[in-house]
Amino acid sequence: MEHLLAALRAVAEPTRLRLVVLCARGELTVSELTQILGQSQPRVSRHLKLLCEAGLLDRFREGSWVFYRLSQAGPASALARQLVAACDDADPTIALDLQRLGAIKRQRAELARAYFRENADQWHRIRSLYIDEREVEAALVEVIAAADPRDLLDIGTGTGRMLEILAPRVEHARGIDQSREMLSIARVNLARAGLENGSVRLGDMYQLAVPDASFDAVVIHQVLHYADRPAAAIFEAARVLRPNGILVLVDFAPHALEFLRDEHAHRRLGFADAEVAEWCRAAGLDPTSPRHLPGDPLTVVIWTAHRRAPTNLRFAQTLQPGSPALVEGELH
Ligand SMILES: C[S@@+](CC[C@H](N)C(=O)[O-])C[C@H]1O[C@@H](n2cnc3c(N)ncnc32)[C@H](O)[C@@H]1O
Repeated sequence: MEHLLAALRAVAEPTRLRLVVLCARGELTVSELTQILGQSQPRVSRHLKLLCEAGLLDRFREGSWVFYRLSQAGPASALARQLVAACDDADPTIALDLQRLGAIKRQRAELARAYFRENADQWHRIRSLYIDEREVEAALVEVIAAADPRDLLDIGTGTGRMLEILAPRVEHARGIDQSREMLSIARVNLARAGLENGSVRLGDMYQLAVPDASFDAVVIHQVLHYADRPAAAIFEAARVLRPNGILVLVDFAPHALEFLRDEHAHRRLGFADAEVAEWCRAAGLDPTSPRHLPGDPLTVVIWTAHRRAPTNLRFAQTLQPGSPALVEGELH
């Protein structure tokens, strides 16, 4: 009972309740929260510290950035979710906070889009700076060959490289990306490779214009580190998977290369296995052992997970885009 009382005491203050509501919408930095609340950074930091101590928020550092999100576990985590659910988005203060959060997210998305726009033609070169792609691609082909899917979706397809190597192994391959520039290059690449069973469409990984349970395999290769809501992206990918379908995530293990953030629009500096497994479970997937491909300086990880039985799928179908369960932190 004591921990509940401590959490209730911590949140019984307008700014702190607003912070809890905001952190349910994504992983946010102090400077983003400061911008939204219009209060000084030391003041916001003090509120955040109290909320973390009370177990309502989690704080995690990644290089020089510190993120806050709704607590993922622990006794006060359920209380945090109940408080968020009880808050009315139409309340004028909350509505304004969410509006400002929306503006920050749009600004962030525009920065990322601009980055991809400018780098579309040299993306292959940028990728080869980090890792030996051939090794990763061979491992990926092995995973897909073992799963033997009929319909494959590549989320954040970029220049369509994953489609090029995987489409020959499936009946239909579809790539989705938010960048028109990337897609125009992908179309050229697919045509050049003569892949008539591959196609690409403009789309957003958080709201795929794709019916539930329509693919046997979903690949998200080197996209998640740009996401401000990686759990929501995984949840959306799981939604479009058929029962027993496979999700394949490829990204970096945790690292400290800040320049990827400063110069290449990365938001997250890699992901821990436990974190990814937890997001998959929450999305109704059963994770399997990840495969690590150590490199210098970056290690690439291939995480795989399978869609559970249809009962969970029905649960997913009841969720609408934008419902609290699609919001980061609500998935745990
Ligand atoms: C680093 S590239 C990776 C491309 C490809 N998967 C590959 O490995 O060659 C990341 C891609 O994710 C796309 N992307 C980022 N955020 C997205 C979103 N919200 N919805 C769809 N695509 C997104 C970018 O436009 C970019 O093409």
